[in-house]
Amino acid sequence: MNRQFVPPYPPRPARPVATWRGFFGERTRTSVYGWSERAFEIDYLKRDILGFRVHILLDPDLIEHVLLDNAANYVKPDIVKTLLDPIIGSGLLTSDGALWRDQRKIVAASFSPGAVEAQRSMFVQAAREAMSRWSNGRHDMAAEATRTTMTVIALALFGGDPRLISETSMAHIAAAIEGFSEARMLALLRLPQFPVTPKGRAGKRGQIFLRHTLAEVVDDRWHGRVAPDFLTGVIEALRQRFSDDEARALAIDNAATFYLAGHETTANAITWTLFLLAAQPGLQDELAAEAQTALDDGVDDAAERVPRLRLFLQESMRLYPPVPRFDRQAIAADRLGEHDVAPGDIVSIWPWMIHRHRKYWSNPDAFEINRFADKEGQHRFQYLPFGGGPRTCVGAQFAMAEALTILAIWLAEWRFAEAGHTVRPAGMVTLRPAGGLPLRLEKRA
Ligand code: HEM
Repeated sequence: MNRQFVPPYPPRPARPVATWRGFFGERTRTSVYGWSERAFEIDYLKRDILGFRVHILLDPDLIEHVLLDNAANYVKPDIVKTLLDPIIGSGLLTSDGALWRDQRKIVAASFSPGAVEAQRSMFVQAAREAMSRWSNGRHDMAAEATRTTMTVIALALFGGDPRLISETSMAHIAAAIEGFSEARMLALLRLPQFPVTPKGRAGKRGQIFLRHTLAEVVDDRWHGRVAPDFLTGVIEALRQRFSDDEARALAIDNAATFYLAGHETTANAITWTLFLLAAQPGLQDELAAEAQTALDDGVDDAAERVPRLRLFLQESMRLYPPVPRFDRQAIAADRLGEHDVAPGDIVSIWPWMIHRHRKYWSNPDAFEINRFADKEGQHRFQYLPFGGGPRTCVGAQFAMAEALTILAIWLAEWRFAEAGHTVRPAGMVTLRPAGGLPLRLEKRA
């Protein structure tokens, strides 16, 4: 019955939209807006944007070449570093070369399967805390998901530090993310980052608040004022390799990196999944029954016993990838198929387009729960919610276990129904429903 359900996506003009249109209207706020049908059919697109040559790769072989085979030639773009520097500095996400390798080594153990297993009770605690706030009626599930994943990150990586779960933090983060479109525009125009609009200024205040709070959080661990946690381990490892000043700066950069990269994305994955569940009540009831059975056999490891919910989540991240686009910059000249890449060129990878590409998916805009039941014939670089190659998301297993645990616990007890809100994807860096996701909640009998 749900096989042909086609959830909303931005209108697609028949012909490519002119580059200058990217500087006006919805395109400045929503990266997935304004792409023509052709972008979902062809292998490659080239754009020249204010002196940046951008190669958009829409062929999994080309993506594999950039992310894996010749990964050493493709680094995080200067413009991305400039943009993110005031928030996450030179932490794991935005560094390259030896500095990236050192940091990846330091944190890798904390995200191994064994380490994720040890975090599962925190996913449960955060999921239950959220439910304790609910009653029958309307709730913004985007905000609920954000608060919950923020709680998880604070518990799992920062010893439950209350400064990182406050309403003030949530508001400042939301402002910092909102202010991003203006910051991107200033960076594209190579202008200094002095925001001019109220949204831009609120974003700047959000960034400053975050950095200040995280500096306090780091200093408490640096001086042994709180019980050791993930961040304490990162600080100790950094102090063995770097001078005190460098180590402190990198500790704050990574605290910000993990705090932000570790909760916004997972919150969006949960939000889109709840939206798709609310739109398909029959499937939702089936998954609720699966979750109840899984939870009867133990709560902490329930994520391992919800195979249909896992398939649902995978399909949800195909249709609404929490990170719809990420980029690289070429160090040396290269060739991508028949296209020449010059040093300094940007290479852009779009889960949004490759996940809905006509060549690689049947009925690509339709929700199909069984799409990942048999991956026969799927190229491993045609589905990239967590990226790919050596820079693949370090928190991927953590995020999957977290999202499945939270969703299973919520679904087992609550029914989520549409509340008359029109959903529209929005966002420049991450993809979320514009204006949140109000749903009607009803406690299951
Ligand atoms: C559904 C949830 C998530 C999604 C969709 C997601 C997506 C991604 C993607 C696409 C990348 C690669 C970006 C690139 O190659 O340029 C990435 C990297 C990264 N993610 Fe995630 N992420 C999620 C959850 C998490 C969590 C829970 C954490 C940490 C607790 C995390 C931390 C990071 C970090 C630190 C990197 C940089 C890794 C590196 O460059 O070595 N992410 N993520």
